[in-house]
Amino acid sequence: MSIHTPKIEKKVTLTTIAKMKGKEPITMVTAYDALFAGLFDTEVEMILVGDSLNMSFLGKEDTLSATMDQMIYHTQAVCNGAKLPLIVLDMPFGSYSTVDDAIHNATRAYQETNAQAIKIEGGKERAHIVEALTQNSIAVLGHIGLMPQFLRSDGGYKIRGKTKEDIASLVSDAKALEAAGIFALVVEGVKEEAARAITEAVNIPTIGIGAGNVTDGQVLVWSDMFGFFESFKPKFVKQYLDGAKQIRKGLEAYRNEVKGREFPSEEYTY
Ligand code: KIV
Repeated sequence: MSIHTPKIEKKVTLTTIAKMKGKEPITMVTAYDALFAGLFDTEVEMILVGDSLNMSFLGKEDTLSATMDQMIYHTQAVCNGAKLPLIVLDMPFGSYSTVDDAIHNATRAYQETNAQAIKIEGGKERAHIVEALTQNSIAVLGHIGLMPQFLRSDGGYKIRGKTKEDIASLVSDAKALEAAGIFALVVEGVKEEAARAITEAVNIPTIGIGAGNVTDGQVLVWSDMFGFFESFKPKFVKQYLDGAKQIRKGLEAYRNEVKGREFPSEEYTY
């Protein structure tokens, strides 16, 4: 059953998100430009300028080659288009390998864009980085489970949380990140049982993608959820629109009208 919820009317802050834990599910989508961010503005609490743009926007095979300059450029565009959601810049691979790199690059994110937070992938091994960032007043969204930036070292995209040991390891990652100061946690590609254990173990909101219906919120990549990215559809993606089909239909009509000298008719002529 779907319900009709009110549109977002006020600027969403870190406090708004913190208060939603266990009360109202948080909605987050990705966006990469001002046009779509503007369309999403009053519809979702959070927008992630994800490094997934390297795949869906740039046509690369994975997210690894995204750069800080790219993420800043797209976050500026998103901030121009959307005013109400909390906007998060996804730190690209290699931009937070050391505390110094993390502080330098996250400071750029804050100085060169209006993003309210940054996101980094990694568990307890990255807790010291999160701690350094949060101590420097940079808000951090964590990301555990299936981590696309770890693709090569993990030997591919692998669903996590299939064993008791792995669930315990994910829970201890979540707790270490919470203690280090993250304000919320993306949990990607895990069995629902693992997502439940993580969500129950922490006091910060969890935001799931491919993690079942037990997290405090959900995130989807916009080009997946609106049916624009056709080369691959993971099980967890629900397509709310057949975007690619609609675009082709529109283009076919345009082509036929131009070739048939129907467009531009008098109505569209000075
Ligand atoms: O880059 C991205 O879009 C992400 C989401 C999948 C959470 O990290």
